[in-house]
Amino acid sequence: MNFLASLKIFTSSYLHIFTSKKIMEKRSIPYGKQHISQEDIDAVIKALQLPFLTQGPMVKEFEDAFAQYIGAKYAVAVANGTAALHLCTLTLGVDEKSNVITTPISFAATANCVKYCGGSVTFADIDSETALLDFEGVKKLLEASPKGTYQGIIPVDFAGHAVDLEKFKKLADEYGLWLIEDACHAPGGYFTDSKGQKQFCGNGQFADLAIFSFHPVKHIACGEGGMITTNSKELYDKLLILRTHGITKNPALLQENHGGWYYEMQTLGYNYRIPDMLCALGLSQLKRADEGLTRRRLIAQRYDIAFEKAGSNFLKAPKNGEHAYHLYIIQVKNRKALYDSLQQVGIFAQIHYIPIHTMPYYRSLEKTPIRMPKAEHYYDQCISLPMYPTLTDEEQSFVIEQVIKFAQA
Ligand SMILES: Cc1ncc(COP(=O)(O)O)c(C=O)c1O
Repeated sequence: MNFLASLKIFTSSYLHIFTSKKIMEKRSIPYGKQHISQEDIDAVIKALQLPFLTQGPMVKEFEDAFAQYIGAKYAVAVANGTAALHLCTLTLGVDEKSNVITTPISFAATANCVKYCGGSVTFADIDSETALLDFEGVKKLLEASPKGTYQGIIPVDFAGHAVDLEKFKKLADEYGLWLIEDACHAPGGYFTDSKGQKQFCGNGQFADLAIFSFHPVKHIACGEGGMITTNSKELYDKLLILRTHGITKNPALLQENHGGWYYEMQTLGYNYRIPDMLCALGLSQLKRADEGLTRRRLIAQRYDIAFEKAGSNFLKAPKNGEHAYHLYIIQVKNRKALYDSLQQVGIFAQIHYIPIHTMPYYRSLEKTPIRMPKAEHYYDQCISLPMYPTLTDEEQSFVIEQVIKFAQA
């Protein structure tokens, strides 16, 4: 072989090693990711050219389209999911005397919205199979306490698994409680009720109010954004006022009227508005919501089949409905080692969630530490694998291969 030919072979094999190393180095698969299309970008640009950057027509357009998608009568768009939760607790009159039951396995905001209003949070443990707030546990808690101890329940459609709200509604009615559904993970998810009807998350059939988030990893991404849905006109009217400083300009509601400019601040509200360009983005994303949901379910099915074969433990899908798969969670004994080993090959899994009652703030509120054995056991083993519509089959195969390799090592 002449010198030139051997140089060519050397260079090409060197380049091959170099490029595969580069690909390895560049591989970065997060647990969740937004998908921004050219239509999304065009919609935002169009909104920026409108006369209103906030309080303009895109807000109502987004609200109406979202209410229709979810199947609720009313929707109120707000700055983020946390603001949505806060407006819900304000609207339902939570105060220093209120005690509200929720799950320890959620994002902290689910519980914090009660604290914002000065109320107390009581955590009830989860169901180990689904990681949802355990209905039987809540029932026992209510049965063991004098009537009037609790004012409301906040169940969470955790990971995208729809809570059976029909059961919770019956229980809530028995004890005179309200229900806020935290549906941040579940637009498009549903459970089937006792009459065989599909009850979509946030449709307002059972919960007084439901909330959603448009954080980038959620089904609909606005950057920041949130939505409250309800079937109650009375609650809807209150929410609209509280979203804008407690101010109204509605002539029918004014106590006085000095002229066209006149407004009244009738209660203490906030500025929890969402700007028009974010609503334009949300509206454009909403058009692809079903497409994204279908892809999420396909990804979940592929994970299920692979992990079932390998004998790995994953959170079960609903028996009486359809999951929305915001998250795909498996449970493994040596979770930290799996998390670290995935990171080494560019897979950025995540943990959902550290139980809220173990957070220093919530611990500081208790004289003796409260224990939620099922939630704590779940936390020790849970890990959320990549789940988003643009995750490719090749990337998913790589994730599956790495998880199974770890489990079998
Ligand atoms: C279950 C749940 N509730 C509430 C929130 C709060 O939403 P946001 O981040 O939009 O304030 C989140 C967001 O991560 C969430 O996952």
